[in-house]
Amino acid sequence: MALTTLSALVCALVLGPAAGAQSLPQEPAFSYVQSPNTTILGQYGHSPAVYPSPNATGIGGWEAALATAKAFVAKMTPEEKAIMVTGYPGPCVGNILAIPRLNFPGLCLQDGPLAIRVADYASVFPAGVSVAASWDRTLMYERGLAMGEEFRGKGAHIYLGPVAGPLGRSAYAGRNWEGFSPDPYLTGIAMEETINGMQKAGVQATAKHFIANEQETQRNPSFDSHGNIIQEAVSSNLDDRTMHELYLWPFANAVRAKVASVMCSYQRVNGSYGCQSSKVLNGLLKTELGFQGYVMSDWGATHSGVPAIEAGLDMNMPGGLGLYGMGWDGNSFFGPNVTAAVKNGTLDQARVDDMIVRIMTPYYALGQDHGFPTVDPSTADLNTFSPRSSWITEFNLTGESSRDVRGDHADLIREQGAAAIVLLKNEKGALPLKAPKSIAVFGNDAGDDTSGFYNMKDFEYGTLAAGGGSGTGRFTYIVTPLEAIKARAAKDKTLVQYWLNNTEIATSDINTLWIPKRPDVCLVFLKTWAEEGADRTHLDTDWHGNEVVESVASMCNNTVVVTHSAGINALPFADHPNVTAILAAHYPGQESGHSIADVLYGDVNPSGRLPYTIALQGSDYNAPPTTAVATAGPDDWQSWFDEGLEIDYRYFDAHNINVRYEFGFGLSYTTFALSDIQAKKANTKGGPVSAAPPAQPAQPGGNPALWETLYTVTATVRNTGRVDGAAVPQLYVTLPEAASAPPRQLRGFDKVFLKAGKSQTVSFPLMRRDLSYWDVITQDWVIPSGDIGVSVGFSSRDLSQFTKITPLSL
Ligand SMILES: *[C@@H]1O[C@H](CO)[C@@H](O)[C@H](O)[C@H]1NC(C)=O
Ligand SMILES: *[C@@H]1O[C@H](CO)[C@@H](O)[C@H](O)[C@H]1NC(C)=O
Ligand SMILES: *[C@@H]1O[C@H](CO)[C@@H](O)[C@H](O)[C@H]1NC(C)=O
Ligand SMILES: *[C@@H]1O[C@H](CO)[C@@H](O)[C@H](O)[C@H]1NC(C)=O
Ligand SMILES: *[C@@H]1O[C@H](CO)[C@@H](O)[C@H](O)[C@H]1NC(C)=O
Ligand SMILES: *[C@@H]1O[C@H](CO)[C@@H](O)[C@H](O)[C@H]1NC(C)=O
Ligand SMILES: *[C@@H]1O[C@H](CO)[C@@H](O)[C@H](O)[C@H]1NC(C)=O
Ligand SMILES: *[C@@H]1O[C@H](CO)[C@@H](O)[C@H](O)[C@H]1NC(C)=O
Ligand SMILES: *[C@@H]1O[C@H](CO)[C@@H](O)[C@H](O)[C@H]1NC(C)=O
Repeated sequence: MALTTLSALVCALVLGPAAGAQSLPQEPAFSYVQSPNTTILGQYGHSPAVYPSPNATGIGGWEAALATAKAFVAKMTPEEKAIMVTGYPGPCVGNILAIPRLNFPGLCLQDGPLAIRVADYASVFPAGVSVAASWDRTLMYERGLAMGEEFRGKGAHIYLGPVAGPLGRSAYAGRNWEGFSPDPYLTGIAMEETINGMQKAGVQATAKHFIANEQETQRNPSFDSHGNIIQEAVSSNLDDRTMHELYLWPFANAVRAKVASVMCSYQRVNGSYGCQSSKVLNGLLKTELGFQGYVMSDWGATHSGVPAIEAGLDMNMPGGLGLYGMGWDGNSFFGPNVTAAVKNGTLDQARVDDMIVRIMTPYYALGQDHGFPTVDPSTADLNTFSPRSSWITEFNLTGESSRDVRGDHADLIREQGAAAIVLLKNEKGALPLKAPKSIAVFGNDAGDDTSGFYNMKDFEYGTLAAGGGSGTGRFTYIVTPLEAIKARAAKDKTLVQYWLNNTEIATSDINTLWIPKRPDVCLVFLKTWAEEGADRTHLDTDWHGNEVVESVASMCNNTVVVTHSAGINALPFADHPNVTAILAAHYPGQESGHSIADVLYGDVNPSGRLPYTIALQGSDYNAPPTTAVATAGPDDWQSWFDEGLEIDYRYFDAHNINVRYEFGFGLSYTTFALSDIQAKKANTKGGPVSAAPPAQPAQPGGNPALWETLYTVTATVRNTGRVDGAAVPQLYVTLPEAASAPPRQLRGFDKVFLKAGKSQTVSFPLMRRDLSYWDVITQDWVIPSGDIGVSVGFSSRDLSQFTKITPLSL
C-alpha cells in the first residue's frame, strides 16, 4: 500500500538522511548510476504475452466457497459487478462498497504488515525483519493470529500483508524491514506462517508486492503538472531462473497457504507494469502457482483498464485515477469503464465474472459472510487517506466506536521482541548484566519519543520501534529502553544515569559530561530509520551513531551497543576492544524496552539469528538500487538484476568475501553442539526419484509434487552450557557444480529450546523443490544428477555436520 496522503509521499521524497551538526562528518552517502545493459534483454526488457486470464476453479479446498461465489455473481447487475472490482473512498484505506440488495456488507482493506495502522486501541507488533530474525515458526504463526484477531475486531476483512517483495535484493531498499529476509526459504516460511495465523483468525491476507519490487526510488512514474508521464517507473529486469529461485519462491509458499489476495507492484518487470504484466499475473501466478484468489493493485499502480484486466488484475485500489490514483476525482480505469467495455464488446463478461468470483471465494471460504464485526466507526476519523469529505457514498458505521482490540497481546509482543534480538558480540562476560552498581545509558534511541507515536518521518529524540510509511503502526504506548532498564535496575538499587543527545555525546569531550568515574556498564542505544517511498542513503546507524560509540568507548571499557534498526548496518566499531557486546534489536514493536531489558539481564536468553549478512563494510554489498539515470528518455529507468541468484550470503559465499557477521549468525548465553547427521530417503513408492516432478495439475502453490518430502535429515543438538536456551540449527544444500547454483542455500531450520545439558533430535524435511533448480529450457524444477551436499550447523558459515544425498540414483 502507499503512504497515507500525497503530502506524506512528497515529504518522503524530499526528506534526506539524518541531518546533523556541522562539525560532524556526513555519513558516507550512497550514489550509483546504472547504465542500461543491452547484453541480456536487448535495449530494454521484454515480457512475453500470456493470455487469456485463467478462471478460478477453487481447486485445493475452496470448491464449495467458489460455488457460493458463483451463485452470488449470478445475481448481480452489470453496474454492481463494476463496483465490486473497484475501490471507492470510505472509512478504510481500501473500500469495496456494500450491496445491501444482496446482503453484502462491502469489504474493508487495511494496512499493514505489523499492525492495523488506521486504528486506535490496537497493538503494534514486531516488524517483519524482527520476525525473520526470530527464526521461529510458532512465533510467526502466533503473531499472524494475534494481528488477525485485531483486524477482525476492528471490522477489517483484509490485511495488507505479509511482504515478500522487497525480498531484500539490496541492503539499501527502504521497505526491506516490512518484509522478512533476502533468503527466499526463510521468507517463504514466514509468509506461510503469517498467512496461516491471519486467515485462522478469519481475516484475508494479501501477499505483496508482486513482484521484483526491490527499490523505492522511481517506483512510480514521474508526472508533469498536467498528469502526463515524463518517465515511467523503474523496470526490474531479471532472468527466468532468478525469478523462480529467488523472487517467486516465497510467493509460492504464500499461494500454497491459500492466501486470499496478491497485491501487484508499482514498478515494471521486464518493461511491463506489475499490474498489467500478463506473464507475471496470468502466467506465473494464476497458471504456474495455481493461485485461486484475486489480484489487487497497489495504491495507484493501475495504469490501464481493459489491458490490466486481461493481464490478470482483478481489483483496482484505491479505485480512482488522480495523481498516482491516490486522490478520488470521480474517474477510474475500472468502475463504469468496465461496464462500458463489456457492453461494447471489448471485454469478455466471463472475465469480469471471474474477477468477482476470485474476490468472493476467499470471503466465503473464511466465513466472512457470517457474524463478521462491523467497521469500527473511529476508523473513519483516523483515515487521512480518504477522509469523510472525499466520500461519494454513505457508509453505515454502526457498533461500538474505538473498540480496544489489544487483548493480552502485550505479553506476546514482549516475548516476540525478545526472541528476535540477535546477540552479535559478547566478550569479557559483559552480558547478561549481574546486578551492576552503576549503569550509564547513552543515545537518542533510549528515551521517550518527543513527537508522538505515529512514525511518518524520521525524528531525532525517542526510541524507534517501527519504520515509516504505510507499514507503520499507531502506537498506543511504547515501553522505552530507558524506562524498562530503570525499572529493572531498581531491583538491584543500581545507579542509572543517562545522556540522550547524540550530538552532544559525539562532539563534546566525553569527560565534560560528568559521567561517574567508572560505570560498570555503558549501554548505547542507536537507531536506523527507513521508510516507504525512499531508499536508505547509507548503511550506518543514524544521528552519528558511530561517533557516539567511539566517544563512549573512549572512556568506558564495558560498552554495550544496541541497535534499533530497519536492517543491515555496517558496524565499524565491532572490533573496538571496549565494545564488549552488540545486540541487533531491529524493530520490536510496542514492548521494545521490556524486550531488550529481558535479554540484557538474562531473563531471556537471546536466540535471534541474523536474517541477512553484515559485511565488513557497506561498500562490500552488491546489487545496489538504481538511484539515478543519466538520460531523460521515458523508459530509461532500468534496474538490471545482473547478479542473478547472488544476493546477500549467496554473493559473499560465491566470491569468498569475508564478512563481519554471516547470515544465520547469533550468540546465546549458553553453547550448543551438533552431532549424528543422517539423511533418510522417504518412501517414494519403490521407484527412483525422477529429475522433473511428475506432471500434475497445479494446486495452490504449483505442482503438488514440488512439496513432497523426498528426504528427511536428522541431527542431534545439545545444550552444552550451563543455562537454558534455544538453538537454531540450520540446513544448507549444495547442488552439484553442473547446476550452477550458489555454494550453499538454506533449505531447513528449526528453533529448539533446550534445558542446560539436554539434547534433542531435530529433523529437516527436504521437499522436491528444495533439491531442484529452475530449468529455463524445460520450464520446470529439475533435480540435478550427482551428489547433493547437505550441511547442518548454527550459521551459514558455521557448519559442522555434513552428508550427501544422491536423489536420482536407485
Ligand atoms: C551486462 O550483463 C552481462 C551478462 O550478465 C554482463 O557480463 C555485463 O557485465 C553487464 N554489463 C553491465 C554494463 O552491467
Ligand atoms: C524477463 O526477460 C527474461 C529474458 O528475456 C526472461 O527470461 C524472463 O522470463 C522474463 N520475465 C518476465 C516476467 O517477463
Ligand atoms: C472461463 O469460464 C467461462 C465460462 O464461465 C468461459 O466462457 C471462458 O472461456 C473461461 N475462460 C478461460 C480462460 O478458460
Ligand atoms: C474511463 O477511463 C479513462 C481512462 O482510460 C478515464 O479518463 C475516464 O475518466 C474513465 N471514465 C470514468 C467514468 O471513470
Ligand atoms: C469500449 O469501452 C472502453 C471503456 O469505456 C473504451 O476504452 C473503448 O475504447 C471502447 N471501445 C469501443 C470499440 O468502443
Ligand atoms: C446498518 O447496520 C446495522 C448493523 O449491521 C443494521 O442493523 C442496519 O440495518 C444497517 N442500516 C442500513 C441502512 O443499512
Ligand atoms: C544537543 O546537543 C547539541 C550540541 O551540544 C546542542 O546544540 C543541541 O541544542 C542539543 N539538543 C537539545 C534538544 O538539547
Ligand atoms: C578503553 O577504556 C579505557 C577506560 O576504561 C580507556 O582508558 C581506554 O583508552 C579505552 N580504549 C580505547 C581504545 O578507547
Ligand atoms: C574495566 O576496567 C576496570 C579497571 O581497570 C577493570 O576492573 C574491569 O575489569 C574492566 N572491565 C572490562 C570489561 O574490561
